[in-house]
Amino acid sequence: MKLNVLVLPGDGIGEEVTREAVRVLRRVAAMYSHELALSEGLLGGIAIHKTGSPLPEETVRLALAADAALMGAVGLPEFDNAPPEKRPEKGLLGIRQALGVYANLRPVRAYASQLDSSPLKNHLVEGADMIIVRELTGGIYYGTPRGILEDGAETRAVNTMTYSRSEIERVAHVAFRLARARRKKVTSVDKSNVLENSQLWRRVVTEIAGQYPDVALDHILVDNCAMQLILNPRRFDVVLTENLFGDILSDEGAVLAGSIGMLPSASIGDRRPSGAFVGLYEPVHGSAPDIAGQNKANPLGAIGSVAAMLAYSFSLQEEASAVEAAVEAVLRSGNVTADLRPSGAPATTAQVGEAVCAAIG
Ligand code: IPM
Ligand code: MG
Repeated sequence: MKLNVLVLPGDGIGEEVTREAVRVLRRVAAMYSHELALSEGLLGGIAIHKTGSPLPEETVRLALAADAALMGAVGLPEFDNAPPEKRPEKGLLGIRQALGVYANLRPVRAYASQLDSSPLKNHLVEGADMIIVRELTGGIYYGTPRGILEDGAETRAVNTMTYSRSEIERVAHVAFRLARARRKKVTSVDKSNVLENSQLWRRVVTEIAGQYPDVALDHILVDNCAMQLILNPRRFDVVLTENLFGDILSDEGAVLAGSIGMLPSASIGDRRPSGAFVGLYEPVHGSAPDIAGQNKANPLGAIGSVAAMLAYSFSLQEEASAVEAAVEAVLRSGNVTADLRPSGAPATTAQVGEAVCAAIG
């Protein structure tokens, strides 16, 4: 099979972790005799520096031409005070929208070998295994009107949270389908005691659930969810939520996995005529400028995103499982980066990438 992949290293540690992810992708392609056609594009702060835009048109063109895109991270401290329109993050939001990847799948697993990496008590974390399905192209991230308004006496800022029925329906279907292949439970997260947006969300999700009688649905308010994720994480199987809540809850979920560096994600849209998903694959972590360029960052989130790409965009289940098994083997070996608090000397980013390749075979 020919794998046409666009690599978007982005900013900060994005470059280091995607280098290792690509190394793993090359190894898998060689092992299973796939042809790999890689292209590279500019996204985020580096794109602003080189072209003036966080999402150059050329990057959109390359992304639409590729079968899948692998992203590192975006964000640079020199843009901290820039308005949202001129920030590196705008590039990521723009490419999600351009590709139409409305469902962001963020699996959170407490690996047995990493229980001690989590600051939480082992008995709480042990066995936690969930997937957060975050709506990714709607809600308050994209709603208009938005802006900072200087109207006379007072300055006012406005953001708009908006969802249509069809936006909720399509991401709900993704969650229910995923649940069917797992423990058959969807927990929908909202704030329906306060927000009309959440009332519509709850109504639509409940309706869609009728098409999946084999899947159990419950609803939880987002504040309570934040607490239950820590108190009783094993209660969750598929967690379905809107864009901003999903952003926040997935960082919290990272504590269960030991480190945010561990978390991969798959952002998918509709299927192409070939049956494969349009997809953008991105680790959950940010650009971590404080450790950028030091060969310290954990590449496993980016490498896990390669596994997700193989599964969703290329339907290469065996290859995806091979990457996941190799990641688990490396975790068990203790050859991990500093964020996972190894008992011995921490491994470098490159050493972890090499170890995963070696474990693949
Ligand atoms: C994430 C990130 C992004 C988001 C930022 C970088 C725009 O936090 O993917 O979780 O908020 O979606
Ligand atoms: Mg986030």
